[in-house]
Amino acid sequence: MLIKRKQGWELPERQAAPEGLYLDRRRLVQAMGLGLAASAAGLALPRAVLADDKAADPTAHLYPARRDDRFGAPSPVTPERLPITYNNYYEFGTDKSIWRAAQKLDIRPWTIKVSGKVEKPFEIGFDELIAKLPIEERVYRHRCVETWSMIVPWSGFSMKSLVEFCKPAGNPKYVAMKTLHKPSVMFEQKDPLWPWPYTEGLAMDEAMHDLTFIATGLYGKPIVKQNGAPLRLVVPWKYGFKSVKAIVSIEFTDKRPVSFWEALQDNEYGFWANVNPAVPHPRWSQATEKPLGSDERIPTQIYNGYGEFVASLYTNRKSEKLFM
Ligand code: MTE
Repeated sequence: MLIKRKQGWELPERQAAPEGLYLDRRRLVQAMGLGLAASAAGLALPRAVLADDKAADPTAHLYPARRDDRFGAPSPVTPERLPITYNNYYEFGTDKSIWRAAQKLDIRPWTIKVSGKVEKPFEIGFDELIAKLPIEERVYRHRCVETWSMIVPWSGFSMKSLVEFCKPAGNPKYVAMKTLHKPSVMFEQKDPLWPWPYTEGLAMDEAMHDLTFIATGLYGKPIVKQNGAPLRLVVPWKYGFKSVKAIVSIEFTDKRPVSFWEALQDNEYGFWANVNPAVPHPRWSQATEKPLGSDERIPTQIYNGYGEFVASLYTNRKSEKLFM
């Protein structure tokens, strides 16, 4: 998902889109191969990256959380080293190896601002918020629009419980969420050509669906910075770019939010972005996916396998571009 003409292999700005399209096949395989080879070799990663230093995080005692398998227990779970070293987080760089750069982000104190159509706008610290909402663990499939995928155990709370905590008023139609804006650390935010801060949104019925999740943990520990600490959205039936990381702003509104990628290239990245193998991206097929750590591509499923739970959300929205 690159935009700029930094290197020869990148496409021009007007063709902004996910990284897969900028890397020719050999480079993509090489890039992935590097990450996977490092993992396979068991290279030592800093403790902070593996998030195994319970003393360092004031919420560490909350993990592992009780498992909730209501929406299934997909397998095989991706080995932990892969999702924490192969990331999309454009604030820290445009390749997949941003995990080192992300360690510079300070996640305490962390304040979340709640605004818009609510009974009363407020701000709350992350540690105070997490103490108020019961956390649980859910194993979800994740499907990136670039066609890689993973299965990971997130911990956190339902988006529904967060919405109720925020007390929306006057029937807002959408909820918009934004990532922290801190160009001194998130150095790509210095680039004015990109529509920072990273923004995403959901229709209210999507936000209130029990499947929609706010992750504060991963693999039974506090979530690591490269995966969106201290809190990120997880919407497993949509392409991964909907799952905004490092949230500092939640706004309830009647105006449909324009997301980061939509602002860059709306004919390729729409608001709904539901996974559908039958609807290709304008420049590549979405029929199959490559699980991290696997050599084989597997078929992609409609709504990423969650259709029985979420398809009914869209029966009255057939005129919309639901799958891109
Ligand atoms: N959130 C922010 N703030 N910045 C990003 O670049 N990338 C998105 C999403 N959330 C992104 C983001 C994309 S394209 C994907 S696929 C997922 O995060 C990747 O999440 P992961 O790194 O935990 O696998």
